[in-house]
Amino acid sequence: MKREWSSRLTFILAAVGSAVGLGNIWKFPYITGEYGGGVFIFAYLVCICLIGLPIMLAEIALGRRGKQSPVNTMFQLSQEAGAHPAWSILGWSGMVAGCLILSYYSVIAGEVMAYSFRASSGVFNHQSVDGVKGILTSLVSDPEKLLAWHTIFMALTVVAVARGVKGGIEKAVTFLMPALFVLLLVLVGYAMNSGGFEQALDFMFTPDADKFFYARNGLGEYLMDAEGEKIFTWKPMMVAMGHAFFTLSLGMGAIMMYGSYLNRHVSIGQMALVIVTLDTVVALLAGLAIFPLVFANGLNPAAGPGLIFETLPLAFGNMAGGTFIGTLFFVLLFFAALTSAISLIEPTVAWLIESKGLRRIKAAVWTGAVIWFIGLATIFSMTGTTIGDITENLLSWVGFSDTELKAGFFKYNLFQIIEFFTASIMLPIGGLLIAIFSGWVMHQDSTEREFSFRSRYVYPVWQVMVRYVSPFLVFMVFLNIFDILEF
Ligand code: TRP
Repeated sequence: MKREWSSRLTFILAAVGSAVGLGNIWKFPYITGEYGGGVFIFAYLVCICLIGLPIMLAEIALGRRGKQSPVNTMFQLSQEAGAHPAWSILGWSGMVAGCLILSYYSVIAGEVMAYSFRASSGVFNHQSVDGVKGILTSLVSDPEKLLAWHTIFMALTVVAVARGVKGGIEKAVTFLMPALFVLLLVLVGYAMNSGGFEQALDFMFTPDADKFFYARNGLGEYLMDAEGEKIFTWKPMMVAMGHAFFTLSLGMGAIMMYGSYLNRHVSIGQMALVIVTLDTVVALLAGLAIFPLVFANGLNPAAGPGLIFETLPLAFGNMAGGTFIGTLFFVLLFFAALTSAISLIEPTVAWLIESKGLRRIKAAVWTGAVIWFIGLATIFSMTGTTIGDITENLLSWVGFSDTELKAGFFKYNLFQIIEFFTASIMLPIGGLLIAIFSGWVMHQDSTEREFSFRSRYVYPVWQVMVRYVSPFLVFMVFLNIFDILEF
């Protein structure tokens, strides 16, 4: 990759490309459904404003000042501030988090690719709810298919990163993202007439604190303790906060990396605002497209990671031009996933080039191979033979089915554990460190100069946020970490 973006537009495009992806369209609806709607969305939006936006500003500024991969940027900035070089640990944990996230991201992106072919063959036409579920089951219960698609997606990611990501991202995002946006609007339009729209609005925007704060199983039923009381849990709060980081690509150095290719003269504040707004709008639109279908067809909003694959095909199968629109939608979603995947792997690749002297191609291939291997964990978590409530597979010893009321962390399968650990633990810790570093450790004039906000009121607000508000919120949520180990 060239050392600088060709224009400030390219940076916005790349950052939006990184932020908008499966997080918005696959993950946001499924976790919103799992954690009960209204309160979850509210918590997520609060985290976006109070934690996401200020940390987005900080990450861009740090990256632009350091001009290297996150490990070396953090090393250099800590020297500059006279702080301990151990701050570069932020870069290290970011590389680990990025690779772990991509390992399952790629499997889901593979499913998206599989669905573009399914859509184009017309199999969704006039399908019933059960038919659509069957199509999903036939995919996810077949490890060989998942493996093939995962392999293809990882290979494409490696090729894109090896060639230097700039040109490709620019094209993908300028044409394909707006097209995805338009298709989402079409889907929302369809959903408005599906008969479930009001219920969906109610679900998404009417707060129901019980559904958020009390533990429920995969069928949406409340769990009860020995005394027959509902069980209070902070896990949804951790998931909501973790998702604010995940969807904005924050907390592991991806945005820092992209910031390092950014030219001195652009206003970081405006760009952060644009990225955050677009990302949030896309997620809400995805919710508005999917939940009406859930309610109109009597589906379970808490169906889990398969939610988009169980709902959207119903719309494509029943709308005019659905074969075309459905194919296009999954193809565009694939591109959105690809531009996100690139940003997950780029910090590691850039570090291998900078510090180990590898050629870009070699760095990309090695990193990709390691991630591909870790991805097998997700594949085997998802596939297997289900007998009663228990799914048996290679990884059965770490995983039990969702509906089984086994207490303790190991009721989750390895995919769920990796997903929670990266998004809800590693990213917030990374974000906490970024906030503390930029708010307390770096010299005030370096951050102030880096931002050069036009209005003099903005800097103090940002400073209060990264010094007090964001760390406090992350800390508060983390105080309850031991409670979630149980449920
Ligand atoms: N934000 C992307 C999405 O919503 C995923 C992603 C890309 C990401 N880069 C990241 C998540 C860095 C966390 C950290 O799909």
